[in-house]
Amino acid sequence: MSSSNSSSELVNGFGRVIGVGSYLPKNILTNDDLAKIVETNDQWITERTGIKTRHISDPEVDTTESMAIAAAKAAVKDAGIDPLEIGLVIVACTTPNVLFPALSTSVQAAVDADNAMCFDMNAACPGFLTAFVTAQNYIKAGTVDCALVVGAENLTNYVNFEDRGTCILFGDGAGAVVLRSEKDQQYDAIMRAAGKRGECMHCESVMQKGREMTEEFRKATYINMDGQTVFKFAVTEVPKVIEDLLGRTGTDADDIDYFILHQANRRIIESVAKRLKQPIEKFPMNIEKTGNTSSASIPILLDEMKQQGLLGQGNKKIVVSSFGAGLLWGAFQTEI
Ligand SMILES: CC(C)(COP(=O)(O)OP(=O)(O)OC[C@H]1O[C@@H](n2cnc3c(N)ncnc32)[C@H](O)[C@@H]1OP(=O)(O)O)[C@@H](O)C(=O)NCCC(=O)NCCS
Repeated sequence: MSSSNSSSELVNGFGRVIGVGSYLPKNILTNDDLAKIVETNDQWITERTGIKTRHISDPEVDTTESMAIAAAKAAVKDAGIDPLEIGLVIVACTTPNVLFPALSTSVQAAVDADNAMCFDMNAACPGFLTAFVTAQNYIKAGTVDCALVVGAENLTNYVNFEDRGTCILFGDGAGAVVLRSEKDQQYDAIMRAAGKRGECMHCESVMQKGREMTEEFRKATYINMDGQTVFKFAVTEVPKVIEDLLGRTGTDADDIDYFILHQANRRIIESVAKRLKQPIEKFPMNIEKTGNTSSASIPILLDEMKQQGLLGQGNKKIVVSSFGAGLLWGAFQTEI
């Protein structure tokens, strides 16, 4: 839907989050369950990651598409808008069950957002961040007034349950937000990429003409990760990008109500809090119950925070930051 503003007076502000929703599969995989599959234990996983349980998709019930739709419907309902107001649907997803048409078109159909343009984004764990930043730029440009941004992942389809270094980390789920232009909405973002350092997280498509299904290739089609390299990247770059963003917006870290970080590892979040000299209470977490849900992690957490009454009426200052395969990372600051 195009803006109704006259060309001489562009009044579109950035988008304010007016609705949030999420979906988590019913199946739960505990650390003790994992200890029956690989050589690990609850104490090791809890101490190194902060994860106790993760929701995993039920192949009879859940697809990436169905989870994206459930989260999107909840967000549109929460926003209380006519879906025809939505001008843009973006689904951030690295693990779609259908390669085309784009998942965003299924979401569009399911929520009756018949005036929306649609596309998907693959930016791994910071996919939601990337989609949110993209939607904000469409809104600010006046191209659309209202956007639905979804992060959805069925990561356990790509988890190698023989690899104890990765299978303990990931879970499935979806989250969504609705953004609508508001004249005075405050927002800024910094996004960064280092493709030259991308080898440390890697997953190949199984559909490659001429590739023989050797053991080596089979393993390459699961999530492969050098955990320590990713850990060091996150604890170095995430605080830096947040400090740069706060510097640019002229905001003191003390004035931020919440730092909402990608839920990958409790120790990464604690390290960022320490580096920013901020109390850990300002870093909401649900990693203990969800594990790392990649591009779904931030909107799932936002929905949980809303249900706990932690999000305000546009009067809470938040910084959202994420990182992951690519390497990609970034942060945005807004009011919610
Ligand atoms: C994966 C991760 C938890 C591993 O923790 P770590 O403290 O770095 O552990 P290491 O890889 O150094 O391994 C230490 C030892 O524990 C072992 N180990 C690895 N996984 C284990 C598990 N699940 N259970 C028990 N032992 C395990 C290793 O084999 C190693 O043993 P060794 O010393 O005998 O060789 C951690 O590196 C991490 O979380 N990295 C970030 C990953 C991430 O967030 N990725 C997603 C980004 S979006």
